[in-house]
Amino acid sequence: MNTGGNVSPDPHGVPESLYLNGAYLPLVDGRIGVEDRGFQLGDGVYEVVKVVNGRLLWLEDHLQRLVWSLGQIRLQHALRGHALDRVLPRLVALSGVQQGTVYLQVTRGVAPRDFPFPDEVEPTVLAYTRPAEPPAPEAVLAGTTVHPVEDVRWARCDIKSTNLLAAVLAKQAARDAGADEALFVGPGGVVREGGSSNVFAVFAGRVWTHPADTHILNGITRRHVIDLCARMGVEVVERAFTLEGLEAADEFFLVSTARDVMPVVAVGGRPLAGGRPGPVTLALADALRAEVARLVGLPAPPSLLHG
Ligand code: PDD
Repeated sequence: MNTGGNVSPDPHGVPESLYLNGAYLPLVDGRIGVEDRGFQLGDGVYEVVKVVNGRLLWLEDHLQRLVWSLGQIRLQHALRGHALDRVLPRLVALSGVQQGTVYLQVTRGVAPRDFPFPDEVEPTVLAYTRPAEPPAPEAVLAGTTVHPVEDVRWARCDIKSTNLLAAVLAKQAARDAGADEALFVGPGGVVREGGSSNVFAVFAGRVWTHPADTHILNGITRRHVIDLCARMGVEVVERAFTLEGLEAADEFFLVSTARDVMPVVAVGGRPLAGGRPGPVTLALADALRAEVARLVGLPAPPSLLHG
């Protein structure tokens, strides 16, 4: 397939390097057709993978979820000819990025605009790197704030779909309210997840999180935090809690690829749990940071809890 754009013979050291339908080129040179179904219909799925010390964190988990999402939208054939387990490390190496992310997107491809699937269209497969620093220890210790919004998203939030308009509006509403993240609240006041993060609350030493059903994205960080809880002997309850119930929480925190474990110190402008990160949250943040460092071959970082 013609990728358009100028294929750079050697984009080595270009921090924003792009893989587009088989070619490697600088991101600024990437071109996608106007009738790409991802652009017009949101007919695609995506992943965001963290790069730490030049390595892709939990790549296998992300690729498994991508394949699952593709299956859910009947696009499982899209990765034929794209060995992403080899492509993505190569892309990161070409980019020279040590800390950052890889954004990966697969759409049903370019075809005359129509709703049902087109015949014999080549999917669009792209990934690009972006340098970004993980949250600094001071930011984690300061904690963050969330703004509750009604969850008006569709009924398949478990699919990592590029249809993100509800999240765009929710996260803008959060920003307008001076908060860092939106908090999606479903019928009955049920707290589901953040605009682009999963949420956990601590009640009497037990860690609660919404079950991985169709109302949330089953985050890769969420899964690893649950594993860490098990290893640390902290009981996890995968059961929903409400916004009202959250007022009685001892601790509340967000988890995601971009945020790692991030304490929440205020909800809707009201301080939560004394307005300070709690010990279970910081112990989990420490455990996650140590686990990530171990996986990418870095020395263990200083403890947030005891530092
Ligand atoms: N978002 N829930 C939602 C709705 C998300 O969009 C995300 C991630 C998560 C956390 O998933 P993970 O731990 O796999 O990053 C939960 C990505 C990072 C984004 O859209 O930028």
